[in-house]
Amino acid sequence: MADTPPKNKAWSGRFSEAVDELVKRYTASVDFDKRLAFADITGSLAHARMLARQGIIGAADLAAIESGMAQVRSEIERGDFGWSVDDEDVHLNIEKRLTALVGDAGKRLHTGRSRNDQVATDIRLYLRGEIDRLCGLVRAVQRSLLEVAERNAATIMPGFTHLQVAQPVTFGHHMLAYVEMFDRDHGRLVDCRTRMNRLPLGSAALAGTSYPIDRESVARELGFDGVCENSLDAVSDRDFAIEFTSACSLAMVHISRLSEELILWMSPRFGFITLADRFCTGSSIMPQKKNPDVPELARGKTGRVLGHLVGLMTLMKGQPLAYNKDNQEDKEPLFDTIDTLGDTLTIFADMIGSIQVRPERMRAAALEGFSTATDLADYLVKKGLPFRDAHEAVALAVRHAEGKGTDLADLPLEELRRFAPLVQDDIGAVLTLEGSTASRHHIGGTAPAQVAQAIARARDRIA
Ligand code: ARG
Repeated sequence: MADTPPKNKAWSGRFSEAVDELVKRYTASVDFDKRLAFADITGSLAHARMLARQGIIGAADLAAIESGMAQVRSEIERGDFGWSVDDEDVHLNIEKRLTALVGDAGKRLHTGRSRNDQVATDIRLYLRGEIDRLCGLVRAVQRSLLEVAERNAATIMPGFTHLQVAQPVTFGHHMLAYVEMFDRDHGRLVDCRTRMNRLPLGSAALAGTSYPIDRESVARELGFDGVCENSLDAVSDRDFAIEFTSACSLAMVHISRLSEELILWMSPRFGFITLADRFCTGSSIMPQKKNPDVPELARGKTGRVLGHLVGLMTLMKGQPLAYNKDNQEDKEPLFDTIDTLGDTLTIFADMIGSIQVRPERMRAAALEGFSTATDLADYLVKKGLPFRDAHEAVALAVRHAEGKGTDLADLPLEELRRFAPLVQDDIGAVLTLEGSTASRHHIGGTAPAQVAQAIARARDRIA
């Protein structure tokens, strides 16, 4: 029907032929941006009230808009709103339905406004709410980690560097490392929300509007901390979307690192933990398998969120001021980022709580690999040997013990003294896993007593 002039489009006046069917679908966003519907209604009502306060529309028009919007809202809530690609996006769908319900008042709503400042406002309103929800989920994951940490403040495992046994640590301490990472993620989301919380509305298409609008009052009504200063920037800026996706990407990277550890720890080679069955699946061919699907998928989905970050950066990099339709492409990556991170955090909060630790396996692994060698060197330093000499002496002792197939702690004292004459009877406690961990007794250290204090501090911070 390309030769029939369109009649019912919001912008059809200047067009002499209907838009191509595929182009219509290509340019429409309603299938995904209808997620912004409630933010759109909230923004429109605040705009309409301001227009009435400023005498730009009449009180009767405002009353009609308010009652019509209430109807639109309940139709959407009930699921019987007739969304149509003919009306392109969420904004035009809602405006059209409003106008069908209340007539001319509906047509006055768009006075002094453009979809450009409207959509920028909607996304900020929507994301603000989602950030608050995601922050709550990050906290839930942290609380689960803290519970596991508390139960395992004194559970000893090998700490790794280069994935080689390095020094004994407590499992509680290891869990607390992730509490820190998620704390920074929380902080980044909060920072991003603060910078995002400014009102674009009033910028209209790009240059502002000739009506006597009052942007500050709209900002206050919508809970923004102020207005965007520059209209050109306000309609074109998507920094907040990039910042948000960046914060979410880093949170996913942390989840992915945790996932990788859970997968390793669950493998029979390590056998450090088991996860509850509800987070695992079996194999259709190998009856014995219990696979850590959830952490594996979380690790995989991290790539998809990182992809959205790169996508949004790339979306913006060539855009001239001000608004360009390119920006419509911001929504799907944003929504998918929200869904992916939100679902992942929700599942992890539960799954982390289901971790069953196998302390005897952790202990056995910590006893392999001379994990208390540093403790022996430190012992010698405290007896007066320079650290470099102590390091060398212990290296030779380790080589000797390795040749004998025994641990440092099990070498007879006389043999140890051949390498380190300063060794005395008190060495025994130093070379045990408990002695090693308990000696790292300072803020940030792995000693069980420190872990307990760190848990208390984290709980205060999170509350
Ligand atoms: N659906 C559009 C978007 O998401 C709304 C703004 C369209 N503005 C315009 N002048 N075509 O960006």
